[in-house]
Amino acid sequence: MNFPTRYVPHSRLRRMRKDDFSRRLMREHTLTADDLIYPVFVLEGHNQEEAVPSMPGVLRQSLDKLLFTAEEALKLGIPMLALFPVVTRNKTETAEEAYNPEGLVPTVVRTLREQFPELGIMTDVALDPYTSHGQDGLTDARGYVLNDETIDVLVKQVLCHAEAGAQVVAPSDMMDGRILAIREALEDAGHIHTRIMAYSAKYASAFYGPFRDAVGSSGNLGKADKKTYQMDPANSNEALQEVALDIQEGADMVMVKPGMPYLDIVRRVKDEFGVPTYAYQVSGEYAMLQAAIGNGWLDAEKVILESLLAFKRAGADGILTYYSIEAAKMLKK
Ligand code: PBG
Repeated sequence: MNFPTRYVPHSRLRRMRKDDFSRRLMREHTLTADDLIYPVFVLEGHNQEEAVPSMPGVLRQSLDKLLFTAEEALKLGIPMLALFPVVTRNKTETAEEAYNPEGLVPTVVRTLREQFPELGIMTDVALDPYTSHGQDGLTDARGYVLNDETIDVLVKQVLCHAEAGAQVVAPSDMMDGRILAIREALEDAGHIHTRIMAYSAKYASAFYGPFRDAVGSSGNLGKADKKTYQMDPANSNEALQEVALDIQEGADMVMVKPGMPYLDIVRRVKDEFGVPTYAYQVSGEYAMLQAAIGNGWLDAEKVILESLLAFKRAGADGILTYYSIEAAKMLKK
């Protein structure tokens, strides 16, 4: 703008920053417990609790222990848990355990839904915990992950989770067309309220390493990667295509993953589509922050809340984060 000299305002942006009251008045984004989705690792058996070495502070828990965690999350106002099973038995090439109604996930879902009916329970839809090769789908003789054959199994897995009472299913497999197949199967089975959170823009990222340790799939996967189905970190327009398709196919919520290094994608997705948009602060991001916090290099409270607020600023409506409990406690203070 070209103001005549005498009208030039004296720009001092620091004026509004001077006091807490005016900083609060101009604050554009806020983080609350409502924004948090808590990913948890569940073990088979009873009275089991294990630390995950590459994710300091994160526990794998059997159902009886998880109930206390779920109760705490609920009391802190966290809307939803995301369940990840640590499966040690019955891994096969074709992942039959993924849709065993007496399997770990459906059992845990039924109990959580009974004990805490108001708590949202989201299940991960992908075959990697159940395949002997650690890939998210069925493979051909060369190890290529088969798209349509995998979808048939994912649909069975979703119906199994929905029967058990999961209110949200979250396909994290990146097969083409799976959202449509899942939505149609849910409608046909009368599960018209089951929400789909699509891992729409999921990148083939090195930041998932600690998660694979946590669920014990890294050993099965070995040196193989997931680049034939997860996205290339170099791409951004492709993420918009993925999201557009998932919305058309019937997703209620879309997700970008990883989180912090991909906030540009979150912003583009939110601007382009304006649908409920989520981001996953993944295991590697958590591990990095925890390592620095553990060494005293970063201030835990400040850096955790800042990292989560950054997701809100980028346009996310919610964040999957291993810091959910800690962040909710900090926000209460
Ligand atoms: C598996 C799945 C992964 C994560 C969530 N679901 C790992 C992968 O795709 O290999 C990663 C989560 C994290 O790193 O915190 N379908």
